[in-house]
Amino acid sequence: MTRPNILGERKLDLSSFSLAQEFGTPLYVYDSCIIKERIREFAAFDVVRFAQKACSNLAILDLMRRTGVLVDAVSAGEIRRALAAGYLPARGEHPEIVYTADIFDREALDLVVEHSLPVNCGSPVMIDQLGERSPGCGVTLRINPGFGHGHSQKTNTGGAGSKHGIWHTQVAECIERGARYGITVTGLHMHIGSGTDMEHLSQVCHAMETTALEVGPTLRSISAGGGLSVPYREGEQRVDVAAYFEMWDATRQKLASLLGIPLTLEIEPGRYLVAEAGRLLTELRAVKQMGENLYYLVDAGFNNLARPILYGAYHPMKIYQRDHQSNKLVDVVVGGPLCESGDIFTQEEGGFVSTRRLTEAQVGDLLEIGCAGAYGAVMGSNYNTKPLAAEVLVEDSTAHLIRARQSFEEIIRGERIPTS
Ligand code: LLP
Repeated sequence: MTRPNILGERKLDLSSFSLAQEFGTPLYVYDSCIIKERIREFAAFDVVRFAQKACSNLAILDLMRRTGVLVDAVSAGEIRRALAAGYLPARGEHPEIVYTADIFDREALDLVVEHSLPVNCGSPVMIDQLGERSPGCGVTLRINPGFGHGHSQKTNTGGAGSKHGIWHTQVAECIERGARYGITVTGLHMHIGSGTDMEHLSQVCHAMETTALEVGPTLRSISAGGGLSVPYREGEQRVDVAAYFEMWDATRQKLASLLGIPLTLEIEPGRYLVAEAGRLLTELRAVKQMGENLYYLVDAGFNNLARPILYGAYHPMKIYQRDHQSNKLVDVVVGGPLCESGDIFTQEEGGFVSTRRLTEAQVGDLLEIGCAGAYGAVMGSNYNTKPLAAEVLVEDSTAHLIRARQSFEEIIRGERIPTS
């Protein structure tokens, strides 16, 4: 069945060239089959909650909702997105939308109160701020267990070097704060970082056990957070989701029996659900030799995919040759169009330019940057007055345009020249 979508849809040849020709470049293309496959891996968890910050396009949220995945929101904007995609507000056993953050900005607090949304508090003061407006509710606490891990120090969300969560020794204080407003702590959540491996993730279970016993029998749910890494490089190990579930299920069962209550087990992945489903198609617009380096310059820049410049992140790349054929491999530096030297997709953390071995290419060929579905389009900007990339979701053999390329008028909307 073909579903109508927000911005129009077309049946067409789904090859990269056809998509690029139809929708232009730079273009994000998401494959719904891969997203659904990843979702199925988590079927044993009671609740799968998508960390929408990874890819919050309304059509992706709609797909998640249709597939039974609930949603996390970290801002007023993300709350509004969840509502716009059809998620229902309300507290309850398995709330569809949860607000998780370290602060309430005023708009987010208003929305939370207006829609009675459950809150996962990342700072003790949020309990007071919520209690003053909405006494008598339940809250969950996002605990910083004092350690963390991520693919980069910038994505490590645990330990004293991270601003995230409520410090693990402050649980009793938070329960007491809550009691002043009739607020009960009903859940605990730990997310120690993004791009984390099993070794580090397994330490979280022990920390959860200690903290959960401090909260006691008011507890209804525990959340393992997100953070599961994906294989960006060929040969990298995939996280064993079944083993991950077993580990958390053992923790849940142990706690349930010690506390004498049933407990819901949640997971909150972002990257794992969407990273491999997304690719960024971009056109090669210049080839030039600069000293010992051969540069391929494409029409996507770090305004479209910021991960390499921010973290030295590695993304797989592939050339599609338009009207020539060559099997020759060349080592190239791949850069974008932006007026900034750091606009390089082949770089290590710390900004060191590196090369990638790719098939020889000519201007007009396409470069596919893979594994770009998570933290790709969502981290886009208008730097150099470049429009946000268009996005396409392939579902039921149909390419749905789910974000039209931004126009110049949309970029400057809101800017004003003062009149004297
Ligand atoms: N839950 C919380 C509270 C989080 O802060 C995050 C990610 C997640 C879940 C989802 O984590 P995931 O499963 O996606 O690893 N821009 C960075 C990633 C930042 C992640 C921020 N928080 C990147 O491109 O690698």
